[in-house]
Amino acid sequence: MNDQKQMPLYEALEKHNSLDAVSMHVPGHKHGQLFSTLSSTAFQQIGAYDQTEITGLDDLYAPSTVIMEAESLAASYYRSFATLFLVGGSTVGNLAAILASFQEGDKVLVQRDVHKSVLNGLELARVHPVFLAPVIEKETGLSLGVKAEEVEKACKETPGLDGIIVTSPSYYGVSKEIKEIVQAAKKYGLKIIVDEAHGAHFTSSNAYPPSALEAGADIVVHSAHKTLPALTMGAWLHVSEHSQVTVEECRNALAMVQSSSPSYLIMASLDIARAYLASLENEDGWQLKKMMERRQEAIAKKTGIQFIRPATGEMDPLKWVIRSPKGLNGWQFQAALEKERVYPELGDFSYVLFIWSLHSSSEETERVIEAIERVVKREEGRQAEVEPLESIIYPSVSELALTYQELGKAAKVTVEANEAVGEIAAAPVTPYPPGIPLIQKGERITATSLKLLKEWKRRGGHVQGFERDCVLIVSASC
Ligand SMILES: Cc1ncc(COP(=O)(O)O)c(C=O)c1O
Repeated sequence: MNDQKQMPLYEALEKHNSLDAVSMHVPGHKHGQLFSTLSSTAFQQIGAYDQTEITGLDDLYAPSTVIMEAESLAASYYRSFATLFLVGGSTVGNLAAILASFQEGDKVLVQRDVHKSVLNGLELARVHPVFLAPVIEKETGLSLGVKAEEVEKACKETPGLDGIIVTSPSYYGVSKEIKEIVQAAKKYGLKIIVDEAHGAHFTSSNAYPPSALEAGADIVVHSAHKTLPALTMGAWLHVSEHSQVTVEECRNALAMVQSSSPSYLIMASLDIARAYLASLENEDGWQLKKMMERRQEAIAKKTGIQFIRPATGEMDPLKWVIRSPKGLNGWQFQAALEKERVYPELGDFSYVLFIWSLHSSSEETERVIEAIERVVKREEGRQAEVEPLESIIYPSVSELALTYQELGKAAKVTVEANEAVGEIAAAPVTPYPPGIPLIQKGERITATSLKLLKEWKRRGGHVQGFERDCVLIVSASC
């Protein structure tokens, strides 16, 4: 079956709903009827699709009918060997990919600025990570990911490597050298996992950066919900044709980290998202890209606001990294936009990040443009530049001071930041969003990272694992 207009899982739900069946099974809202008294009718309507694994609706962990067909259509669209539906976001995709690929003690090259789900996966699998520093572009402060050349060098110089995990594109939409990275790692027979959470739409047009799937990574993880019309937590784990990791290994790992009652609402939305994506033409991508460029030019001309692009590498047209107007940091700019009822994805020291969809209405665009104009006008009088922050220079290759096993057994204590310099972190410290730990669990804490985290908080950012400016460390560390 390869008619990409079909949505077998979604259609099976519709068919079941048309039966007017009596639910003598979970969930307890009974086709949404029990939502009616306390909540809006929209909840009641959507509840009808929140089904469970009853006759006719298949089984996510041993699919043989509609879920199998829906997953096959997704695999056929993405040209993967198999595509598995995820109901816990790329978070569970990353966890399962790592658990399926590696054994305790395996040595894995890992891009230093990966999402926290990758780091949690490494710890769960008890592997030995060897971190590779990303290139941070001096002019923009954007991470360009790891260089293929550095991957090649690390492969040559690190004996006993089993795999590599990289993120591409970054949260901010930057992709660079993913094909070359995959090729370099392949030469050394490594298992290759790519967290492509933000690139689920890349295959729809060559106007977007290339996907790691084409490059032949063993496993690629996509958050469908980030850029496609899928419900939050809807994601895919793709296993490529010549993958060294089997589909069964991935499915078994997923059964360990996901609910045994997967959401049919989320799964059906994945079916819908794939059909939507498949309906797009290559040309649609180019048109969208041109339209985004025109919009940016028009806003820049009107307001003087700057759109940030890395000097090298490719930028996803759906991501806008906007420099805050003079006198505002990214969080203040974010708050000012929110007052205008425009909610960005995030703010940081200097920027706000917008994520567009593959189809945005002109009304929406107008509202965004007007909001930016109003904010810029309001803030015009400000003179002070926002002081830039010192960026952290990571060693090009680094390892944890203690293994995850040693960390698990060690005694821990919470201390104030100034007592933590030189100590081993017993928990990650993570600016959120974007959810990339600045201090890794198991590494020695530096004064620079603490200073940066304090500034992050002082200027309005949120940090996990740094409550009251305290960190959890290994006590009496060596
Ligand atoms: C690079 C990256 N990987 C993985 C994730 C986790 O994705 P999800 O929210 O789908 O669980 C995120 C979330 O922001 C992310 O930015």
